Amino acid sequence: MFKANPNYLKLPGSYLFSTISKKVTAFKEANPNESVISLGIGDVTQPLSPSVLKALHDAVDEMGDSKTFKGYAPDLGYDFLRKAIADTEYKARGCKIAEDEIFVSDGAKSDSGNIQEIFDATCTIAVCDPVYPVYVDSNVMAGRTGTYDAALERWSDVIYMPCTAENDFVPAFPEKTPDIIYICSPNNPTGTAMKKKDLQAWVDYAAERHSVIIYDAAYEAYISEEDVPHSIYEMDGARECAIEIRSFSKNAGFTGVRLGYTVVPKDLKDSDGVALHGLWARRHGTKFNGAPYIQQRAGAAVYTAEGQKEIASLVSYYMENARTIKEGLTEAGYTMYGGVNAPYIWLAVPDGMKSWDFFDHMLNDAHIVGTPGSGFGPSGEGYFRLTAFGTHENTIEAVRRIKAL
Ligand code: MLT
Repeated sequence: MFKANPNYLKLPGSYLFSTISKKVTAFKEANPNESVISLGIGDVTQPLSPSVLKALHDAVDEMGDSKTFKGYAPDLGYDFLRKAIADTEYKARGCKIAEDEIFVSDGAKSDSGNIQEIFDATCTIAVCDPVYPVYVDSNVMAGRTGTYDAALERWSDVIYMPCTAENDFVPAFPEKTPDIIYICSPNNPTGTAMKKKDLQAWVDYAAERHSVIIYDAAYEAYISEEDVPHSIYEMDGARECAIEIRSFSKNAGFTGVRLGYTVVPKDLKDSDGVALHGLWARRHGTKFNGAPYIQQRAGAAVYTAEGQKEIASLVSYYMENARTIKEGLTEAGYTMYGGVNAPYIWLAVPDGMKSWDFFDHMLNDAHIVGTPGSGFGPSGEGYFRLTAFGTHENTIEAVRRIKAL
């Protein structure tokens, strides 16, 4: 008799963005004449850039020609893309990352959910709180998180590291040393970013205690300040203690194209000296047949001179929205964080309201969708996330509606 994986049965409710989507669908059904603006899920709204489109078209043509047709992609990624990534993202920043330490995938979401598979089931995890839900949920599925306390909205075996206005959104070192530490910077959901000195301190902590940092840098392209690192490998010692996950979704608008990559340096070894690079390669070989050629060609186009200019302009388009939201809602009396090095604004919910109550208020009274902070973890209570990924028109209109409340 077969049985379902009991770990999945421990997951409370549905995935955060599915819950929101259900609520929004119900609202739209009940109010068919209202125009709802979504500043909820961090999905892009601007079309793919000309260089990317051309690369996609060219690659499609190659697939239709028997001389250039491609079957399975190499499961770790095509060399042309791995080289472009290594040169532009790492060598150009002085980071010692080789092409064969880069594993191309279909996106940062799958990588950030799957990476825990290469660690022992007994490893303890620490997460910044609030947190991108994938890190915790994927560890729940793997049976690493203990039991869920619904009242406290916490897992017994997860170390939560609060990141709030009080500590300037920088996590303090936990009392008990975790084996795996998840850090996302620039951060989803708070929109804040770690400074070089803070990230160096975390790398030193991990190196000293033989922990591993899983560093999600999906929003790296939005960094505008000098003292914010673009990669964890800018930090001394990170090759021995960190994995980095990157995405083409937020910089180049690939949310519907799907492409990302993970860096596992060969110097990263567990306490028995086992190199994780080989394990992640083995996992790719077994469970993944490579990101499609067409997508990888599109990814390589991002690294041409023209492609780099185009993504800079996409980033500045969205960051103008971030300014519109921050300036407009500051005038309206709200307190907000983030939005300087990231396309997210983290708004302090007024009058001691709960995050989900504020979500309902925004949806019912302004017809605006945001994301309740508590959906990202206990320390997200009292906050509300707005994304800068809307169109200019919708963002301006959303701010107008919120100001008018
Ligand atoms: C978010 O809204 O947090 C992100 O879009 C989710 C994701 O990137 O998977």
